[in-house]
Amino acid sequence: MAKDLNFSCSECGAAFRKWSGQCDACQAWNTISESKALSSGPKGKSLGAIRGKAIALTDLDTQEAEPPRTQAGVGELDRVLGGGLVKASALLVGGDPGIGKSTLLLQAAARFARNGLKVIYISGEESNAQVQMRARRLGLEKSPVKLAAETNLRDILTTLEAEKPDLAIIDSIQTMWADNVDSAPGSVSQVRSSAHELTTFAKRNGMSVIMVGHVTKDGSIAGPRVVEHMVDTVLYFEGERGHQFRILRSVKNRFGPADEIGVFEMTGKGLAEVKNPSALFLSERGAPAPGSVVFAGFEGTRPMLCEIQALVAPSPHSQPRRSVVGWDGGRLAMILAVLESRCGVPFTGLDVYLNVAGGLRITEPGADLAVAAALVSAREDAALPAEAVVFGEISLSGALRPVVQTENRLKEAQKLGFTKAIIPQQAKQPGVNGLDLRTATDLAGFVEEVFGAR
Ligand code: TYD
Ligand code: MG
Repeated sequence: MAKDLNFSCSECGAAFRKWSGQCDACQAWNTISESKALSSGPKGKSLGAIRGKAIALTDLDTQEAEPPRTQAGVGELDRVLGGGLVKASALLVGGDPGIGKSTLLLQAAARFARNGLKVIYISGEESNAQVQMRARRLGLEKSPVKLAAETNLRDILTTLEAEKPDLAIIDSIQTMWADNVDSAPGSVSQVRSSAHELTTFAKRNGMSVIMVGHVTKDGSIAGPRVVEHMVDTVLYFEGERGHQFRILRSVKNRFGPADEIGVFEMTGKGLAEVKNPSALFLSERGAPAPGSVVFAGFEGTRPMLCEIQALVAPSPHSQPRRSVVGWDGGRLAMILAVLESRCGVPFTGLDVYLNVAGGLRITEPGADLAVAAALVSAREDAALPAEAVVFGEISLSGALRPVVQTENRLKEAQKLGFTKAIIPQQAKQPGVNGLDLRTATDLAGFVEEVFGAR
């Protein structure tokens, strides 16, 4: 940080030269305060003027083995972690309040404890009695996990130093209070400094630490992005309230693939893993209906089928509604524009609603074609064949582009009893026997193929 940027915003972490009432970066009011300098070295001299100590350099090729991992024994969790919890790693688990982070971590704590780790669970949000009650509900009250309700970071670190656990769970980082930092718990300086202390402590002592982070309205973990840079792994726990499905998604992982997801179901007795998510996501699908399309997606390292639903209705407003759940609103606008200008399917004066069933959130552009199919199907009031899956990317010109993992998607579709696939034309036809493949090179051709000449 430049020396004279002494003020920072507690919402977004942006740094400023002087105080002001509103943050220029995130537009929040009354969030800017003076941040204390962190440096402890000799003041006033440039770094080059006073010598530090020489650092030992090493080769790229080390003899060190892979870092040791401990598995939880829950496939969905271990896969998201890249094959288990790495010793001395720091993790951040973000998610909306009430989505099930504390439940997930208490269950994980018990699993890791069962597999030989010494685990301490520290809650800054709930009393011991509340956590014990949850443990009873989950049937985990006999687990050897140790528990404390505490927010004072100095006391926590002293305890961890004495107890030497293999894993500490901190629920949540926003409630931690480092007494050497002059601001309230939850402020950027507190969150940053607590995360830093915990991470360095963990690395130095060979302990793993999992920190829970709350998510702000715009969907990022509250506090500065710098916490995400500090830790080795960032996981998001997502899902729609009112739906029982929960997705654990790795957005960053120094020890494994990012973008991997694990699927869970929230039951009366905690989270249960879902080994065959496609079947579950399609389980609520009824008879073929206009606006409903099955998308053969690919999340992380495995194919996943889900239903995309669209509803198109005449709009009473001068500015028709565009509402989307589980997908990107900007991308919806793009597909509508391509349908209108390249295929002559206008949506002027029509409200458009798009929903990914089951509370799944899709980020891959491979869903474009399924979304377009759902939109046209809803608009024309014509259902797609029930036994068909759709996927492919759409470019602004209206051309269809093949997507990665075509063959695996098709195999998953076949496994679940689908007999047709409508996909972009590929250079090399995927070899999946017994599946009726229909291909198109552009969106107009696709619309004609599926809904007939217009
Ligand atoms: P919680 O783990 O407290 O969420 P977070 O830590 O992310 O705020 O879980 C909250 C919700 O989960 C709560 O509404 C109750 C529900 N729940 C169940 O449905 N089944 C269970 O076994 C448990 C423990 C919680
Ligand atoms: Mg909680």
